[in-house]
This record gives sequence, C-alpha cells and structure tokens, in this order.
Amino acid sequence: MSLDPRRRVAPVPRRLFGSFVEHLGRCVYTGLYEPGHPTADADGFRRDVLALVRELGVTTVRYPGGNFVSSYRWEDGVGPVDQRPARLDLAWHSLETNEFGLDEFMRWVGKADVDPIMAVNLGTRGTAEAVDLLEYANHRGGSHLADQRRDNGAADPYGITLWCLGNEMDGPWQVGQRSATEYGRLASQTAKAMRRFDPDLELVACGSSHLGMPTFGAWERDVLTEAYDDVDLISLHAYYQPVDDDLASFLASAEDMDRYIDAVTAIADSVGAIRRSTKKIMIAFDEWNVWYQSAAPSNPPSGEDWPVAPPLLEDHYSVADAVVVGGLLISLLRHSDRVTAACQAQLVNVIAPIMTEPGGAAWRQTIFHPFARTARHARGAVLDVLREGSTTSTDRFGEIDAVDAVSTWDDDTGEMTVFLVNRVVTTPAEVTVDVTGARLAGIIECVTVGGTDLHAKNTADGPDHAEPRPNGTARSADTGVQLTLPPASWTMLRLRATDVTT
Ligand code: AHR
Repeated sequence: MSLDPRRRVAPVPRRLFGSFVEHLGRCVYTGLYEPGHPTADADGFRRDVLALVRELGVTTVRYPGGNFVSSYRWEDGVGPVDQRPARLDLAWHSLETNEFGLDEFMRWVGKADVDPIMAVNLGTRGTAEAVDLLEYANHRGGSHLADQRRDNGAADPYGITLWCLGNEMDGPWQVGQRSATEYGRLASQTAKAMRRFDPDLELVACGSSHLGMPTFGAWERDVLTEAYDDVDLISLHAYYQPVDDDLASFLASAEDMDRYIDAVTAIADSVGAIRRSTKKIMIAFDEWNVWYQSAAPSNPPSGEDWPVAPPLLEDHYSVADAVVVGGLLISLLRHSDRVTAACQAQLVNVIAPIMTEPGGAAWRQTIFHPFARTARHARGAVLDVLREGSTTSTDRFGEIDAVDAVSTWDDDTGEMTVFLVNRVVTTPAEVTVDVTGARLAGIIECVTVGGTDLHAKNTADGPDHAEPRPNGTARSADTGVQLTLPPASWTMLRLRATDVTT
C-alpha cells in the first residue's frame, strides 16, 4: 500500500471516538454509578470506571438512549433524589428509579472529560418537551426551567451542542414508532423550534434502524425530504455478529459498514441534488459494535417482573470480536469526510468495552484495545490509502481485499499511523507500506491483536487476551516498511516521517 500526506480525505473528527450510555441493564446503575462501591466518589461515580473511560479515549457520550429515550420523561430525573418517581421502562421491561438523571450525567461527563450528545424523546413526546429540555440544559437563567437547573445545583448552562431527534423511529420495537413522513415532519418542527433558541445546534435525524430494515432507503429519502434544511446529520446503526460460524465474513464486517455509509451518503446527496441544495448532510454512526443479538443476555425480562438494572446484553467478547471492532474503526475513519460523529454502543456492561462487578472489579474487554489505540493515535488527517494486493473470498461479501487499511498523518508530530486488518482466517499477509511525499524516519511502534486465541475472552481476573503485543516483523527501509500480519488480526503501525512538501 502507498501513503502520501498530500492525499488527505479529511481531518480526523475527534467525535468519531464517541460512546453511548443508555438507561439499560447495568450500564448506568452498577456501571458508571454505584454509591457504596469502594471506589465511589462523593457523587456515587465509580472511579475505577472513570479511569478506564479516560484510558479508552472516549471523546463524546450519547445519552440517555436508545430505545429507553422513547418513553422517558427527562424531568423525572432532576431535582431532589428522594422525590423522583420510579417509573416503568417500557423499552427494557425494567424499573427506572431515576436516581441518576441529566444533572448526574452532566457531572459525570465533566469528570470523564467527554462531551455530551443528548437525545430527546420523539416517541411518547414531542416538540414541547424537547424545547423544555433544551431550556433546562442550555439557558443561562431567568426562566422557569433554567432556574430549576440552577436550584438543582448547576449554575452554569451545560452548552450541549449535539442533539439526537429521537431514536430508531422506524422500528416496530420503538415506543411511538412512526412512518417516515410523520417522523420527518416532527423532526423538522422540533429542529425549527430548537433553533429558535440556538441556531447553531447540531441536530441528528433518525435514519433507518439498520441496513436490513424493509423500509431502508425510502425512509432516509422521505425523512430528509421533510427535514433536509433543518437537520445536520442523519443517524446510522449497525451491530455485527458471526452468522453460522462464518468467521471470514464476520472479520470483513467493515465491508457492510462501508456499503451502508456509501448508500446513505448517496441517498442524502440525491435529496440534496433534487432540492438544488449546496448543503451536505453528514452521518452520525451513533450506534455500532459487535452484538450477539440472538444470545440469551439480549432477552429483556417479561411478565410481572420489572427489575431494577438487571444484567442485560452483557456480551463477553472474544479476540476475534476485537479484530472486527478494529476493522469497523478503519471503515469509520475512511469515511471521515462524511461520518463526523460515531458512538460505540455501549460504554459499560451493556455490549461494552468495560465490564464491572457490583461491589467488585472493573476490567477491559477484548474490544477495549483496538478502540483505545485508535482513539489515541488516529490524529491529524485521514489519508487516502492506495491498496493493491491479493483478495479473499467471503460468503457474505464475495471477493474482497485480503487486507483492509487506513492511515492518518499528524502534521504537528510528524506521525503517520496505519491501521490494518488481515481478514484472511488461515494465512498471514505480507504487507509493504510505501511512503511517498514524505521522508520516512523510522518505526515508532508496531502492535498486533489476534492471530491466535481467537476465541479467548477476558474475565475480571485476567489475563488480558487482546492486549496489543509488539509485532516484531516490521522492518523499515528508506521509503517504506515491510511487515507480516498474522491471520485474522488487527495491527497498528506508527511511523515517524517528515513532510517534504512543507
Ligand atoms: O444499544 C442497544 C439498543 O440497540 C438501543 O437501545 C437501540 O437504539 C438499538 O436497537
């Protein structure tokens, strides 16, 4: 492959390394919030989890759902805790105590050093409640709701700039599911009202819940036909798991993500072209991950039982899952010119890179590692990588490149970082990385995840199976680097280079 700092796709959007906290299972309760835990601070936030969130390098966190938001009343979660009502959470058949709400989340966000992304309920509620929430959160004071926030202890407005207009509104599982035209009009009206308060907000309209929805495509077209001028981004959601033990296709999940992003981009641009608009709608890939949806932890409780924070969607990830997550991040980076926000779903316990035991340890899942390394080292600009090489055949995607890759270049540090996945299950890949337009000064680091122990999973007691290990094959010449990628592996190669154009 060939890299050249002059061939730039876009600046790396820092918001690509977002995550997601939903009131679902143990994500909030006994995840980020557990008063009484040995590491809990005065706010009841687990310090062990906060430390891991910082290490993960998360930049933004979407809140409070997900499906949960579609029947949530945000007012239930503010004010004196002992006066907050317990409510049935219809999305996950649980009891929501409302002990943790907006003000707790914003305090947590400050401690985690991340930016919030706030979702409004357009399922059971509408424009009025969204605008109320905006006033409570972002108005400085002197109005009823802003003064309520101040009375509740937050003197300064939160200044939340990125807002999701509902969640998965096409899904039959969504409380308040709507048709595309109904939703598009509601999103448009809500956006217009929110912009009367602050024209500079960034607003995300719901795209299809996933690429396999029967209404996919028509939904995006119809929603944007109603709301094109009022919103800035459209959301995409995708979860991956191996089907029929087909590891080769699973490893190539980024192909699906590439195609999905390209399809939505084309649809959004076609709506824009019909409107003769110069505006481009960006993409918020605000839910993505590996998720074993057909497995038992994904079944919510039922019947008379409405438990508080039951363990739900607690997938335990393998080394192969970590390789796939690394590959999905490559796809997101490759599309940085259109995908300007993304959220791995979710952050703690619920299909998450961080796991906790109530009262006990917090630890890293395998998928933690490629995310943390990519978030830390994908800096500067994304480069357009020219690739030439062998292909591999998959049942799901046909003939695809054996090795997927993306690169970033940081003008400030002179670092060029290459992220690679060998998607072939059985054979290593010999890779030559040629650097043009820059003088190569050497290899800083080359680390790999995978290749062996693909089914190994982490536990609270260790060992940490997917911790990146040095890849000693990387050899540097004047113009490039040669290295070997083990089968089914993710690799990060960090180079030092000098831009000859500057
Ligand atoms: O992340 C879990 C769930 O997946 C979210 O609540 C929903 O938006 C999606 O279907």
